[in-house]
Amino acid sequence: NVWTLALADEIDSSNTQLMMRAGQGAPHGLVLAAERQTAGRGRLGRRWQMPLGAGLTFSVLWRFERGLGGLAGLSLAVGVAMVRALHSFDVPVQLKWPNDVLLDGRKLAGILIELSGDALGPAAVVIGIGLNMASPGEVDQPVANLAAAGYKVGRNALLAELLNQLADVLATFDREGFTAFHAEWTQSAAFLQQPVMLRFSHGEPVAGTALGVDPHGALLVETEGSVRVFHVGEVSLRAA
Ligand code: BTN
Repeated sequence: NVWTLALADEIDSSNTQLMMRAGQGAPHGLVLAAERQTAGRGRLGRRWQMPLGAGLTFSVLWRFERGLGGLAGLSLAVGVAMVRALHSFDVPVQLKWPNDVLLDGRKLAGILIELSGDALGPAAVVIGIGLNMASPGEVDQPVANLAAAGYKVGRNALLAELLNQLADVLATFDREGFTAFHAEWTQSAAFLQQPVMLRFSHGEPVAGTALGVDPHGALLVETEGSVRVFHVGEVSLRAA
């Protein structure tokens, strides 16, 4: 078993804490799960807040053999691990590019990946997951939670299964990269062959049809008769 589990009642953010400890030499496979975060962070500088006991919030530290340049598609692979875990409890989740987990078209869980290390050496990666068990956290879009959708899944059982799946997915990713998950990600993807709107931090939104992802996990969108490629971090996706 690769995991070493640490539990905290209250911390600022499990990602912030693990990033700090990663810099101080914390071991591969350290997991930090928090009952409550006072400064939980989401992607794109957003906040991630959950009432006490309503969520599963944890981060894991994974020390890859590959360098930062080899991590394209990692966030999608983590999504695949989450789908595997939730499907094992019969929760029919889907994935929204790049890495939201949807239940009935609403956001059930989010993933925040942060990297440290340099371009050449092995990368240390902190993967943070926030999942709504009961009443929703504060996020930027319609949210789902397991209890309200009628799923009775224990928080510890879910954490254990997520860690099992993550161990498998992250080890495979280190050997093979995103290619190993391309087909499985595509199978679980929401919005494929559907009209979508793409929003950028600057400039006008673009309307198109989501076709899928390339071997690096970049999004392929058909717009005005041509196929364009969008990379993680440069765009956000909405159903049109
Ligand atoms: C997102 O969808 O924007 C990502 C949300 C990630 C939230 C989790 S909760 C555990 C970990 N610690 C944080 O501060 N954020 C992540």
